[in-house]
Amino acid sequence: MEDRNEHRPVLLDEVLEALNIQPEGFYFDGTFGRGGHAGAILERLGSEARLLAMDKDLEAISFAEKNFAHDERFEIRQGSFAMMAEWLKDAGLTGKMDGVFFDLGVSSPQLDNADRGFSFMKEGPLDMRMDTGRGQSATEWLADADEQVISDVIRDFGEERFHRRIAAAIVSKRLSEKLQTTLQLAGLIEKVVPGREKGKHPATRTFQAIRIFMNRELDDLQKGLAQAVDALKIGGRLAVISFHSLEDRRVKRFIRDKAEGKRLPLDLPVQYEKTNAELKIVGKAIRPGADEVKKNTRSRSATLRVAEKIKS
Ligand SMILES: C[S@@+](CC[C@H](N)C(=O)[O-])C[C@H]1O[C@@H](n2cnc3c(N)ncnc32)[C@H](O)[C@@H]1O
Repeated sequence: MEDRNEHRPVLLDEVLEALNIQPEGFYFDGTFGRGGHAGAILERLGSEARLLAMDKDLEAISFAEKNFAHDERFEIRQGSFAMMAEWLKDAGLTGKMDGVFFDLGVSSPQLDNADRGFSFMKEGPLDMRMDTGRGQSATEWLADADEQVISDVIRDFGEERFHRRIAAAIVSKRLSEKLQTTLQLAGLIEKVVPGREKGKHPATRTFQAIRIFMNRELDDLQKGLAQAVDALKIGGRLAVISFHSLEDRRVKRFIRDKAEGKRLPLDLPVQYEKTNAELKIVGKAIRPGADEVKKNTRSRSATLRVAEKIKS
């Protein structure tokens, strides 16, 4: 039987190649999870190399402390990778990193543990925080949030057509009953969303939206990407795996803008020449092959994008 806490690292070989691992290099993994990628990176690193890691999730940190603490090349801190710059600055590593890696979204253990409230398939408290040590749970947020705000969140972060109906149903339900569990919310959504998208539970988009909002995932991504560029040395690699189009669009646009650089004024002879580009795009977006998707269905929506720093 499959180990329910198992987390299979997605696009592992592709990530290792993308990072162009230097045996004595400095690496940053902003989304440690259960260390699937981190472990494989460490296997390729020599004794003077370093791997710094972060995760918002307290269970991910405990796992790392238990299983990786013996490795002197490795260090982990709890928090968002949007705080990476501070750590690297204190460590004197800004502009010195050989690789920065983000494997976005939630991990299998987070999804599989009903108590975390991420899954609309399993009954559990409606929490949805990656960092359970701070901020509001989804239950607390849904109990007070303005109907318009709920509707906007579901539209913007879930790209859900029926955002107004769902928000209205939530607000009407909470007059009589607190929304406390995952299946309670999923059932409510099922009742108001007409028809079914093929292969998609009607609550998929709303759960995604609330999760992204509660964890400020897109804000953190934008900050993390900008800090990653400052963190890298020239020739260093940025590799990002995203799992839905909202993330991937941001990663793609960010890399493209940094690879185009600032264009010079039109009256200069070198107009449109790409001058100040900080990044170079490395290859095309990489998707898992049929074999990987068969072994690990969660990899099916993954997209890996890679860039190299070419200028400070
Ligand atoms: C897809 S999993 C990573 C799995 C990991 N690569 C592995 O092989 O085990 C994503 C992890 O990133 C964490 N996470 C997501 N966004 C984060 C952020 N902005 N800062 C820090 N951790 C984040 C989640 O808590 C989760 O543990």
